[in-house]
Amino acid sequence: MTDPPPHARETVVVVDFGSQTAQLIARRVREAGVFSLLVAPSTPPDAVRALNPRGLILSGGPASVYEDGAPALNPALLDLGVPVLGICYGMQAICRTLGGVVARAEHREFGKAHLSIIRHDKLFAAIPDRTSVWMSHGDQAADTDRLGFETLASTPTCPHAAVGLESGGRRLYGVQFHPEVTHTPQGRVLLHNFLYEICRCTGQWRMSDFLDETVRDVTRAVGPDRVVCGLSGGVDSSVCAALLHRAIGDRLTCIFVDNGLLRTAEAELVETTFRDHFKIDLRVVDASREFLSDLRGVTDPQEKRRRIGHRFIDVFKHAAKDLPDARFLAQGTLYPDVIESGHSAAGTSAGIKLHHNVGGLPAELGFRLVEPLRDLFKDEVRTLGEVLGLPQQLIWRHPFPGPGLAVRVLGEVTPEKLTIIRACDEILLEEIVAADLYRSTSQVFAVLLPVRSVGVMGDGRTYDQAVALRAVETEDFMTADWARLPYEVLATISRRIINEVRGINRVVYDISSKPPATIEWE
Ligand code: XMP
Repeated sequence: MTDPPPHARETVVVVDFGSQTAQLIARRVREAGVFSLLVAPSTPPDAVRALNPRGLILSGGPASVYEDGAPALNPALLDLGVPVLGICYGMQAICRTLGGVVARAEHREFGKAHLSIIRHDKLFAAIPDRTSVWMSHGDQAADTDRLGFETLASTPTCPHAAVGLESGGRRLYGVQFHPEVTHTPQGRVLLHNFLYEICRCTGQWRMSDFLDETVRDVTRAVGPDRVVCGLSGGVDSSVCAALLHRAIGDRLTCIFVDNGLLRTAEAELVETTFRDHFKIDLRVVDASREFLSDLRGVTDPQEKRRRIGHRFIDVFKHAAKDLPDARFLAQGTLYPDVIESGHSAAGTSAGIKLHHNVGGLPAELGFRLVEPLRDLFKDEVRTLGEVLGLPQQLIWRHPFPGPGLAVRVLGEVTPEKLTIIRACDEILLEEIVAADLYRSTSQVFAVLLPVRSVGVMGDGRTYDQAVALRAVETEDFMTADWARLPYEVLATISRRIINEVRGINRVVYDISSKPPATIEWE
């Protein structure tokens, strides 16, 4: 294998056989200081070679390698001259490709298993003789010895739980368990060993290098043209804008659409950060009247989203027309969005959902797209934001949906209801920050319910609205649990909202997890 040129990213490629944990493998590799990318099993070996990988990791997958239609491993991937680590299905795929037998195991293993290590160098360097590992398999490779593999570790029911073969220019390793999950306590050490002891990586993946490299790529791709970037106030578009500004300076114009559905002081934070601090050419378009007029009388959540989406495109298009020299549109699309919408190199999880990004805009306006964050996970975007010097308040911001408060005012949206929900939301967030709970929660917000209930205030009867508080903890927003906020904090929030917000006489706390509930109420 030839050494990569000095500035090429040291990359380990993860071949995604459809496992739920394929992305997690990629993350673990990056956490260990090596850049990683997912590709589909159908990716031509030449395209994989062009990524200049230091090693390949083959993920697990839900199929059985011997089933019709199971994703096959291209044998050429074993001959790229770089080490290969197969995990679960990945290990079985290697064995089958080499002519071995993979069969249903006598004992299926799901959950914790006790691993005994037979050989301690390389893959198992610095790992104790016995350790627990996480298993999730019904099949296993039966005749790895015959294929020339050495058995490196076993469990009571899986005699070849880890195997290795180094001969004829091939360095192939397989583990039947999952080193990427936290239930395998030595899993990170094992992956580290693969990267550093076997692939001989040097661990160059640093966010500052990534920034320099991306700035160079963007500068080259954009040439002398102008780029438009839609700012939403969220971390992704903010980091995207700051990065673009670093690359092309005043040839970046940001457009922030005030749709009238924002929280208190949201527009101001964007203005002070980008116009005052970064000195970016920022155009704030106040279209709140148009958005609110579109929403008059509408109660169906999807119809609200549809109208907001259409109006956004319309407003953005008008604003962009004032910039005739703009050829590119920058979007803060992240890696999970790319994968979820099925556009990843992997493509195996195609079509789960179309994300909120301004779909259709680039084509309609004749823009070309710049997506400098499309290889990053959310936490990596935050690190990049820090490297770029964005304020903590923006970097650690909880996500806020594109349709804004329109999906947090249940039923028809009116200016009066928006005033109420803004006031509730502001109190809620103030108290969450004061109790130092903002960073430990993933999303916290208030929802104005379309119900009125009876109360008593002073000597009088009230018949006012109810507000629900929602606080969730989640890794990826696909599943979430409700946050166990301290009762005292809930009590303070409830007392303040009822005392300070006119029109509210009842506060409830949402204790539903996702699934089956969603995070937003609409
Ligand atoms: P759900 O409610 O689907 O929310 O559990 C998951 C995450 O997505 C956000 N969300 C949206 N974001 N446009 C967006 O930009 C939308 O229409 C939308 N709906 C939900 C939600 O706030 C949560 O972070």
